[in-house]
Amino acid sequence: MAEELVLQQGHKVEQYQSILPQIQAIVEDEADVIANLANICAALRQQFGWFWIGFYLVKGNELVLGPFQGPIACTRIAKGRGVCGSAWQQQQVIVVPDVDQFPGHIACSSDSKSEIVLPIMKNGECVGVLDIDSDELNQFDEVDAEHLQQLMAMIEKFI
Ligand code: SME
Repeated sequence: MAEELVLQQGHKVEQYQSILPQIQAIVEDEADVIANLANICAALRQQFGWFWIGFYLVKGNELVLGPFQGPIACTRIAKGRGVCGSAWQQQQVIVVPDVDQFPGHIACSSDSKSEIVLPIMKNGECVGVLDIDSDELNQFDEVDAEHLQQLMAMIEKFI
């Protein structure tokens, strides 16, 4: 595995095009799920500098906090609650331009202003979510959704 990431400046499409193959190279050499999820958070944080990046994994009827980068966060989220619980329930990507406008948003930190949550699917079931929060409004759009879906496809192969 490469010991250092090559970080890309410029438009976020170029940033995704640079970081996704590097993440692929990291995870394809390692079978441990937690190690891979942890490195994915670190790589995204290094490339994009987002406020909070982390995984919640389905355990019974809750999402439980997994590997993440950023300030401490809520540890358990019920199905249907907040953005994460909604993405799990709906099995859909949710982009929230302004968290204050999302009914039931769980404010782990008042610094979080916008977010994107993507479900991780395995054999037709949601087994977890990737939650990315920004401390700026309107940080995520279709470009993020499309590229992060490619990351979800990588994760679905090893989770
Ligand atoms: N924003 C999430 C809660 C998790 S924290 O932001 C890390 C939500 O409403 O689902």
